[in-house]
Amino acid sequence: MNLTELNKVATAMVASGKGILAADESSGTIKKRFDAIGVESTEENRRDYREMLFRSKEAMSQFISGVILYDETIWQAAADGTPLVKLIESSGAIPGIKVDEGTQALPMCPGETVTVGLDKLAERLKKYYERGARFAKWRAVIDIGGGIPSMTAISVNAHALARYAALCQAAQIVPIVEPEVLMDGDHDIDRCYDVTSRVLNKTFQELRVQRVALEGMVLKPNMAISGKKSPKQASVEEVAEKTVRLLKACVPAAVPGIAFLSGGQSDEEATAHLNAMHKLGPLPWGLTFSYGRALQAAPQKAWSGKAENVAAGQRAFSHRARMNGLASRGEWQSSLEKKAA
Ligand code: 13P
Repeated sequence: MNLTELNKVATAMVASGKGILAADESSGTIKKRFDAIGVESTEENRRDYREMLFRSKEAMSQFISGVILYDETIWQAAADGTPLVKLIESSGAIPGIKVDEGTQALPMCPGETVTVGLDKLAERLKKYYERGARFAKWRAVIDIGGGIPSMTAISVNAHALARYAALCQAAQIVPIVEPEVLMDGDHDIDRCYDVTSRVLNKTFQELRVQRVALEGMVLKPNMAISGKKSPKQASVEEVAEKTVRLLKACVPAAVPGIAFLSGGQSDEEATAHLNAMHKLGPLPWGLTFSYGRALQAAPQKAWSGKAENVAAGQRAFSHRARMNGLASRGEWQSSLEKKAA
C-alpha cells in the first residue's frame, strides 16, 4: 500500500470548492428515480442519463472532484463508444465505485440490517482498479426507532465497514466509509446526534483495530438533523452547529476529508447546511458534499428521458454543482438560487 498516493487521492476528493457526485444508485434505486419522472429503467436509458451528467462540462470540470459509479456504469460506454470512465477522467474528476452489495436483515435484531459484500471483495477491487477506479464506497444503514439501533447493529456494521476499508487500502483504493444514520423517523436532532456519535465512535474504533490508515480514507456521514417526521425541525444554524460539534468530537484530524450524504434533505437545505458549517470554520478536515438526490433531482426532472432536454438537464446539474461548490467554501447565498430560477 502506498499511503502517500492514497492521501493524495483522498485530499483531491475533498478539494475546496469541489465535491463528489454520488451516481451509484443500484438498479432498484434508479428505477424508483426514473419511475418518478416517467422514464423506463432500461440499460440504454440509464446510460443516456449518466452520460448526460458526465458530459456536463461546467459541473464536471469545476465543481465535481469524483463520481461514485455503480457496477453496471463502470463497464458501460457512451453512445459514441467512449467508456463512461474515460469521460469522467477527461473532465478532471476521479472515478469511484460502490462495492457493497446492499443490506440484509440482521438475525435476532428485528427491523435492522447489515450491509453485505465482503466475499470476493479483494478480487473485485483489483478489477475496478484496472478499470480506473481510485476510490470506493460502502454504505452501512442505521435506523432510529423505538428500541433501535441496537449495539449489535452498530457493531456488525462498523466491523464490516472497517473490513471493507482495509481491503480497499490494500488494493490502493481510497475507501469512502459511509455509516448512514437515516433521517426517516420522528426523532429530534438531539437523538440523531446521540446515535450518530455512537455510530462514529464505534466505526473509528473498528478502523483502528483493523489498521486502516486514517490519512487514506474519506468519511461520508449524515448530518446531525431532525427526523423527517419530527414536529421539532431544527434550523439551518442548529444543524450546522451540532454537526460540526459532533464531527469535531468523533472524527480524528488525520482524516483528510468528510463528504456528506444528503439523505432525503431538499436540494437547497443540503446546500444551506454545508454552507453554514463553513461559516463556523476553520475546520480540521476538508468538508464537502457527496450528494446523490440533492445533486440529481433537478437534472432528472429537467431531462425526463427526452434527448431534446439534455442541455436543460446539464444546466440544472451544473447549477446544483455550482451551488454546492460555493457552499463547500461558505460562499453560497440563497439569492443565487433565485437568480438562476
Ligand atoms: P443521497 O445524497 O441521495 O443520500 O445519496 C448519497 C449516497 O451515496 C447514499 O449512499
